[in-house]
Amino acid sequence: MNRLVLGSQWGDEGKGKIVDILTEEADVIVRYQGGSNAGHTVCVGDKKFILHLIPSGILHKDKICVIGNGVVVDPESFIEEKKTLESLGVDVSSDRLMISEKAHLVMPYHKEFDARRETVLGQNKIGTTKRGIGPAYTDKHSRIGIRVCDLENRDILAKKIKNNVEEINRLCELYGIEKFNADEIIDKYSQYADELKPHIRNTVYYLNGVFKNKRRILFEGAQGSMLDVDFGTYPFVTSSNPTVGGAFTGTGLPYKAIDSVVAVVKAYTTRVGNGPFPSELDDEMGKLIRDKGAEYGATTGRPRRCGWLDLVVVKYACMISGVDELALTKLDVLDGLDEINVCAGYEYNGKKIGYIPSQLEEYEKCRPIYKTFKGWDSTKGVKKYEDLPENAKRYIEFIERFVGVRFSIISTGAEREETIRR
Ligand code: GDP
Ligand code: IMO
Ligand code: MG
Repeated sequence: MNRLVLGSQWGDEGKGKIVDILTEEADVIVRYQGGSNAGHTVCVGDKKFILHLIPSGILHKDKICVIGNGVVVDPESFIEEKKTLESLGVDVSSDRLMISEKAHLVMPYHKEFDARRETVLGQNKIGTTKRGIGPAYTDKHSRIGIRVCDLENRDILAKKIKNNVEEINRLCELYGIEKFNADEIIDKYSQYADELKPHIRNTVYYLNGVFKNKRRILFEGAQGSMLDVDFGTYPFVTSSNPTVGGAFTGTGLPYKAIDSVVAVVKAYTTRVGNGPFPSELDDEMGKLIRDKGAEYGATTGRPRRCGWLDLVVVKYACMISGVDELALTKLDVLDGLDEINVCAGYEYNGKKIGYIPSQLEEYEKCRPIYKTFKGWDSTKGVKKYEDLPENAKRYIEFIERFVGVRFSIISTGAEREETIRR
């Protein structure tokens, strides 16, 4: 069975842990969008791995990992991540890690312009990870992007970098900022090319071969449905499609290649960066959840905004991606609370609504309507559904009824073993 794992909220739902669990039932794991803005944490024994670009499946010895064409690859970040993994004893050799020829490269000027635009926006900034993601996807869609396959020919690479830097430097002049040196970038990227080359493949043909030979594929989404450039809280989103459509355009596999879509649902909600968040808790409870859940960004270290679970959001994510299974994470973080709230609708202009308005200004005015649940003692490390406290089961079963999809996985701790399978 080929599964796809995606985030149902604003990212950081615990996709890394769920992918790690499901990797056991797959042969090939593929990332389809995003870039090193992602931070997927997987805890194995006393080791903690943070994956940014490389699929989380890499931690399982006998599996093959693919960085798909829909990903934007920062070679510097890739090389650093590869080194870190190697120092932790992970095999990251080219026979088990491939990068798509068609993936676009993140360039130094992308990172610089990402950061500068944020500064210019001031109060209205998006709160990006400053990894150059937006500008890299902009160049891709403007048809001036530089692709991984361009690394294979120094002349082609040099010509494309020169052309782009010429244009970029005109902008620098306009803004009165320091210009980029094309030759320096060419040298740097030629060195990166030597390190990346063994990993570069035509992954579109490779993945279709895997599919045809009935080997099992696991798609790893980054970010979350509410950060989707089309379906999220635009413009406070990322520049790719973490929802199911991104998996087809981001790998070259046909829709029939996905048998089951798994949405990861954190037992509460978090968001890094700016933008509307109706169930946000700007109080002691929010702080308590942040501390207990260690809700600090895996990529930027920023404190994550925390709030109650928003089921309007989760139901919307399930609708868009045709979700077949749910995976609940961080249930244990809610252990020991007297009461737990769940947002089951919004109040907008004195009316109850159950949808997410497209206009940001409207969404910002939506107030959560809560349903309150009694808390429970402890779910930490529970491995069987029957062993969960009754109140935790009530919480879980309410979510399932509201959303109309069942949990096949419930995570009760960061470790691999702290997992319930149903
Ligand atoms: P991702 O970006 O969706 O992969 O999520 P992150 O890795 O950014 O954030 C999830 C964090 O929660 C990581 O530090 C995980 O190790 C941790 N985590 C995952 N599942 C659980 C769980 O069930 N309980 C607890 N306490 N931590 C978890
Ligand atoms: P994972 O895969 C949470 C957020 C940023 C910002 C917005 C745009 O770990 O769930 P970008 O750098 O993409 O242009 O930033 O998206 N963001 C994430 N938030 N988890 C992520 O990835 C994120 N990747 C980007 O904080 O609000
Ligand atoms: Mg993350």
